Amino acid sequence: MKKTIIVTGGAGFIGSNFVFHMLGKYPEYRIICLDKLTYAGNLSTLKNVMDNPNFRFVKLDICDRKGVYELFEEEKPDVVVNFAAESHVDRSIENPEVFLQTNILGTQVLMDACRKYGIERYHQVSTDEVYGDLPLDRPDLFFTEETPIHTSSPYSSSKAGADLLVMAYHRTFGLPVTISRCSNNYGPYHFPE
Ligand SMILES: NC(=O)c1ccc[n+]([C@@H]2O[C@H](COP(=O)([O-])OP(=O)(O)OC[C@H]3O[C@@H](n4cnc5c(N)ncnc54)[C@H](O)[C@@H]3O)[C@@H](O)[C@H]2O)c1
Repeated sequence: MKKTIIVTGGAGFIGSNFVFHMLGKYPEYRIICLDKLTYAGNLSTLKNVMDNPNFRFVKLDICDRKGVYELFEEEKPDVVVNFAAESHVDRSIENPEVFLQTNILGTQVLMDACRKYGIERYHQVSTDEVYGDLPLDRPDLFFTEETPIHTSSPYSSSKAGADLLVMAYHRTFGLPVTISRCSNNYGPYHFPE
């Protein structure tokens, strides 16, 4: 079945790899990349898919409620996958504010749009950093989904805050949500920092 998927942060490292994966695996899907193009986003990463008729790029801030609502109105997405974030820990120590804006308030705007226009699934891309740190000399220890949230930087706190909000939107409004908390990734299109 044909689906329309909004991928936020799709000009970044993991989001762009996801866009390529989805266009390759589901050629009938319509993939819309919504990205503000901060220092971490690079439009040239997407050059090979720009001409694909099932792909659209929209330069937009996820905190821009009016712009986000207009896009949802126009595209009527079935699924939203939210990769958009400020994601560099050291930057979050220098300037936490933009982390709270994008990672928490931007998440709220996206979920409000999902509520307003209806959605099959909202997926939040989170991080294992919400669980804090494990000692390097204790390889026997590991995190599970039951591990308490124990953040240690403004970045991880903003991601944990967003996760709690996502779960609250499910509980309070019945929004169909999923959250993944992956560990560190590396590979093609990774910003050098
Ligand atoms: N890279 C990792 O190892 C890792 C590990 C765990 C979780 N994550 C999570 O995965 C997601 C993607 O990480 P990444 O490494 O690809 O990040 P990245 O910094 O490479 O990409 C982030 C993208 O989001 C865009 N963006 C930032 N603020 C925005 C806004 N307000 N509106 C719209 N777009 C905005 C940027 O322009 C960029 O294209 C993030 O949510 C991050 O927290 C990453």
